[in-house]
Amino acid sequence: MLKETGYVTLDTGFVNTASCTSAITYIDGDAGILRYRGYPIDQLAGNASFLETSYLLIYGELPTAEQLAEFDSRVRKHTLLHEEMRQFFGGFPRDAHPMAVLSSAVSALSTFYQDALDPFNPEDVEISTVRLLAKVPTIASYAYKKSIGQPALFPDNNLGYVENFLRLTFGVPTEDYEVDPVVAKVLDMLLVLHADHEQNCSTSTVRLVGSSHANLFASVSAGVNALFGPLHGGANEAVLTMLNGIHQSGGDINAFVERVKKKEPGVKLMGFGHRVYKNYDPRAAIVKKAARDVLERTGGNDPLLELAMKLEEIALADDFFISRKLYPNVDFYTGLIYKAMGFPTKMFTVLFALGRLPGWIAQWREMINDPATKIGRPRQLYTGEAERAFLPIENR
Ligand code: ACO
Repeated sequence: MLKETGYVTLDTGFVNTASCTSAITYIDGDAGILRYRGYPIDQLAGNASFLETSYLLIYGELPTAEQLAEFDSRVRKHTLLHEEMRQFFGGFPRDAHPMAVLSSAVSALSTFYQDALDPFNPEDVEISTVRLLAKVPTIASYAYKKSIGQPALFPDNNLGYVENFLRLTFGVPTEDYEVDPVVAKVLDMLLVLHADHEQNCSTSTVRLVGSSHANLFASVSAGVNALFGPLHGGANEAVLTMLNGIHQSGGDINAFVERVKKKEPGVKLMGFGHRVYKNYDPRAAIVKKAARDVLERTGGNDPLLELAMKLEEIALADDFFISRKLYPNVDFYTGLIYKAMGFPTKMFTVLFALGRLPGWIAQWREMINDPATKIGRPRQLYTGEAERAFLPIENR
């Protein structure tokens, strides 16, 4: 678009504008392809652990057994929160959304580690990376414990990453907590599926905030807030709310689909559609299978799963959704899995944040080390008043 000062591209929502170059994640939305550092997502999911995938995203290569053991041990050593930080959780209202608690606590990490915040000091970046990976699961589980009025546990560093998180979340001080290996494996795989997705809303936020040379904690905390919204990370929570609503009002799926097609305000088929995937989301098929496995394992015969499957079937055969290329995204079934694992709806987006964390870190590090990075500063097309003279208040 021509302006008096030159050409400006108007691309609301950045539908067709790249903000950076990146060597981390490749997506071909038409072909349904997602690769981390060149490795197809279906080969990583189920084969590489979440920490292994985090290493891949952050350092660019799959770790050797020795490198992974060393990385794992470094992360385990930092799972404890500063004792003063533990006091924070008492200050939030009991019904606080855990995403709000998470973003506040991640932001607060920069108050505890002020000596290691320089974005251009590789040692500072390295220790911040490890601190984030180690402490975010502890923060997330403390936010949950606070919401149900239970005492927080200390991390058990004999346990693996996901096992430790499950124990911190569901364990109680008076009893031993036995981690269900199937639940741990599926949760680990779901974290892998969410670990990066190139320049989505939260990752772009992390990069934008970081482009001002804000530290890693400040940038990641902004990413958590971006993920909070129902059109992004909040979608898995919104799917369950939608399924519950249909179930409670008698289970009439066709009536709900008609409301979506009429575009009633606020009524969308949550968990469907994606800015980039226009054929299918390669993560969705993996998640659908995992949903069956976990529900069988936990013995839950959740009527919402049957409802979701019927809803998917109806939508996939309906011209409204076909013509708009709307398919289930990764979040259509994740909420059902998290529910079967025992997580309350409010924790779903937090689980997404746990998964997306290594992606945010990898993208921030790539951004800060890229000599082409400039502070993010989009232009606008001004549509307001032309110049006018100030009117004193008595004349208005
Ligand atoms: N239900 C009903 N209609 C939809 C949906 C949906 N879930 N998604 C898009 N549409 C319709 C729009 O109304 C629009 O119709 P129109 O052409 O008649 O105006 C058309 O499809 C195109 O939609 P846009 O909103 O332009 O698509 P966009 O790429 O901007 O949005 C988004 C993508 C935000 C994901 C959207 O599909 C959506 O809101 N989905 C539901 C929320 C959701 O599941 N989000 C998770 C995304 S994945 C993730 O964050 C991991």
